[in-house]
Amino acid sequence: MQTVKARLIGKTPLSPDTGDFAFEIAEGRFQGLEAGAHVDVHLSDDLVRQYSIWSWSLDGRTLNVAVKREDGGRGGSLAMHALEEGAQVEIGGPRNHFKLGSENRYATLIAGGIGATPLVAMARELLNAGRDFQVIYLVRSKDLAAMDSKFRDLGLDEWYRLHCDDTDGSFDLPALMRSLPVDSDIYTCGPEPMLNAVLDAGTAMRGGTIHFERFSAITDADHGESAGFEIELASNGAVYQVSPQETILEVLKTNGVHVDVGCSEGLCGSCMVDVVEGEIDHRDGILTPEEQATNSYMCTCVSRAKGTRLVLDL
Ligand code: FES
Repeated sequence: MQTVKARLIGKTPLSPDTGDFAFEIAEGRFQGLEAGAHVDVHLSDDLVRQYSIWSWSLDGRTLNVAVKREDGGRGGSLAMHALEEGAQVEIGGPRNHFKLGSENRYATLIAGGIGATPLVAMARELLNAGRDFQVIYLVRSKDLAAMDSKFRDLGLDEWYRLHCDDTDGSFDLPALMRSLPVDSDIYTCGPEPMLNAVLDAGTAMRGGTIHFERFSAITDADHGESAGFEIELASNGAVYQVSPQETILEVLKTNGVHVDVGCSEGLCGSCMVDVVEGEIDHRDGILTPEEQATNSYMCTCVSRAKGTRLVLDL
């Protein structure tokens, strides 16, 4: 994916472990700035991380991401927090796999922890569009509510609720679902347990759709055993074997076939490739069940073949 040069022009603490990072593009303007979108921040040659945009300037020259420092993480957040103001980085995207629907249905935004970032942008867009919605921000304690001030700055009043487990007890998701208007939308992003709880409680909704974005990978344990299979490139008929221990992306790279790479965890969509033939075993965390059911594209970093062969549009 094409990248642009950008400079870190602001770094502001939002909570004890979370900071806001403002980047300014070196030339021109960022394209595709919209609620739900994320960017790839290239922190070094082999360290690329995806962060949702929560704000941007009207002239498209600056954008903001919020990043939680994960001391036991894979290094991306520590590298971000180590950036000094003035640092130059390459930025890819924005790309959006978590778009707001255009239908004027009642929307409930359920944010958990740092997963609140895309939902701040969505709340702003819904507000500007004059749509009916509410925001519920679930955190363990108030000091961890890094995006609380950003929601409050929007002036949402009674449309916004911060719920802190330590003072408010556990949140009653099924009761919320039952209270929603018929055929409404839920947009949710947060830690995996919260996301799963929202999806489970969704059975109590009276119609409607849950749109969600994961930011932690689905583990292999969730998918059971992996088998080997072969891939064929539609353009030249080349065939490569993918062993149970390898990913399609790794095999393509080994054989000199270029595919964009981002998270390598099935969370960003950088490595998406069209599939011409064969049944896909989807293992990503971004495609909706409807998108997966089309069986027409896949994340090559994690997804595999259900059968013995896939033909890729490469
Ligand atoms: S590299 Fe991010 S989904 Fe594959």
